Amino acid sequence: MNLISLDDLSDADIEGLLEAAEGFAQDVRSHEHVLAGRIVCTAFFEPSTRTRLSFEAAAHRLGARCIGFADASTSSAAKGETLEDTIRVLAGYADAIVLRHPATGAAARAAQLSQVPIVNAGDGAGEHPTQALLDLFMMRRHFGRLEGLHVALVGDLRYGRTVHSLAPLLQRFGATVTQVPAPGLAHPEPLPEISLAEAAASADVLYVTRLQEERFTDAAALTTAKNRLRIDAGVLDAGGFQGIVMHPLPRVDELAADVDGHPSAKYFDQARNGVAVRMAVLAALLDGRLEEP
Ligand code: NCD
Repeated sequence: MNLISLDDLSDADIEGLLEAAEGFAQDVRSHEHVLAGRIVCTAFFEPSTRTRLSFEAAAHRLGARCIGFADASTSSAAKGETLEDTIRVLAGYADAIVLRHPATGAAARAAQLSQVPIVNAGDGAGEHPTQALLDLFMMRRHFGRLEGLHVALVGDLRYGRTVHSLAPLLQRFGATVTQVPAPGLAHPEPLPEISLAEAAASADVLYVTRLQEERFTDAAALTTAKNRLRIDAGVLDAGGFQGIVMHPLPRVDELAADVDGHPSAKYFDQARNGVAVRMAVLAALLDGRLEEP
């Protein structure tokens, strides 16, 4: 089994992962038997802080060991090796491969030929399913439900892969998803567009994303987009915002530091939840022993 897109998982699978994550989140420290003796490989061909390190923390918390690379320039990709050849080899070394790659569809390509589970940790502007799972986990924990929540996606919704995975997932679980795109950067799905002021006045969640500068091919479009859409405490207070602010991080200029002290700011809690959710994903994919030894 692989985790390439959440479309591949049933609602029951997702509920099961969220439930397991809840169990791990209660106490991340007492589960070292679950994947004892296993090896997880993190193969990261693009920069990452949270995704790679929370996967590695999750693997260690479950008793597995990690191998991998955080920088493709130190792997044989720098010598011209294809992704396919790299994956064939890594599948002989590890029991699961967590893959981040700049090409959309890379994880699906890897899954075609890997003998061990592949987890998509971000494929270009494609998807980022484990981020969407942890976002869902955070929202459900905070509100106690997903049904009927209004989630406004803000920022670069065209190239941002987290929102590509998150929007359909939220809709499946009964949330209403709207968008406040940066100019020219609307979500590929036809989500209703609202203004930032409307979002601040009515949304339960403002899900803010950064401009994916590395995916822009047009410098002028990047400058136009950069000059617009910045969330600060003033924007929230002007709308009487009652919800929570989430962000997959890293944030750059789109989310001001003065929001950090605002009661609505939840993005660092969101990042912390990544470990428990990724423990649930690794345990499920590697068929870990969830019962006590
Ligand atoms: C995101 C990503 O890599 O897509 N980061 C993350 O995994 N938390 C968001 C981003 O880079 O903007």
